[in-house]
Amino acid sequence: MSTTPAALVIGAGSSLAQATINELLTHGKAVIAVSRSDVSKTIEDKSRLAGLVSDYSEESIEEIIAGLVAEESSVDQVFIFNGVLHNGSITPEKRLEQVSETQLLNSFRANTVVPALWLKHLKKLLRKQGQVLLTVLSARVGSISDNRKGGWYGYRASKAALNMLLKSVAIEYQREAKNVSFLVYHPGTTDTPLSKPFQRNVSPENLFTPDFAARKLLEVINDLDRTELIQFRDWDGNSISW
Ligand SMILES: NC(=O)c1ccc[n+]([C@@H]2O[C@H](COP(=O)([O-])OP(=O)(O)OC[C@H]3O[C@@H](n4cnc5c(N)ncnc54)[C@H](OP(=O)(O)O)[C@@H]3O)[C@@H](O)[C@H]2O)c1
Repeated sequence: MSTTPAALVIGAGSSLAQATINELLTHGKAVIAVSRSDVSKTIEDKSRLAGLVSDYSEESIEEIIAGLVAEESSVDQVFIFNGVLHNGSITPEKRLEQVSETQLLNSFRANTVVPALWLKHLKKLLRKQGQVLLTVLSARVGSISDNRKGGWYGYRASKAALNMLLKSVAIEYQREAKNVSFLVYHPGTTDTPLSKPFQRNVSPENLFTPDFAARKLLEVINDLDRTELIQFRDWDGNSISW
């Protein structure tokens, strides 16, 4: 059993995740990174990095968690970075006419269902640990009360659903894994493949580099009041209304 707690980073292929992993490694943290592809190929400092590959099926998620439980892995931070705004089969909808069953299901699968399956299986691993902070990358556009522009039906709705799911998960963990608190996080618009097609109207000072966004994330975590069960915060540490 490893005695120094590691950070478990899920969706580790994301640009934000890669920058966060580099920042964690620089500060001497051990990292267990899970992605669809082997992240040890893209991270330079491999001395404290363990890379695991998952296709995000429930079978694979369960198998990875069972392996970590069997090894008695020690973890004090978990990050879930998974999130899709566009890909070959998803284009953010501007109007209701563009909404389709396939798009909605694909958005919900990546943004809500995959994190839900991780949270389901993580309970077994996390309840045996000391204090754990579980950070999930959501988005300000998932705030129902903040929605003034509309559009992006699938992404907004699947992130709002993720937020609701996290509220229920936090309540259940409170009963069975009291040691876990939750940060639901908006990183700010960051220059990654996810935001690339939508950066035209973002002023340069509001478009963060992944390295800056990663440093901000770790700063917010560092300053967080861990006595609160679940918080929805942005890159500046400010609360976002649900
Ligand atoms: N960039 C921004 O401006 C911005 C703003 C607000 C919120 N966010 C949120 O921040 C998080 C990271 O985003 P990013 O900008 O770093 O994006 P990115 O580089 O495009 O990363 C995409 C992430 O989604 C995962 N993913 C891709 N397809 C998937 C699928 N079909 N099922 C499940 N997971 C899938 C990837 O996992 P693998 O590791 O397996 O590749 C990776 O973790 C996302 O949750 C996003 O919604 C980003």
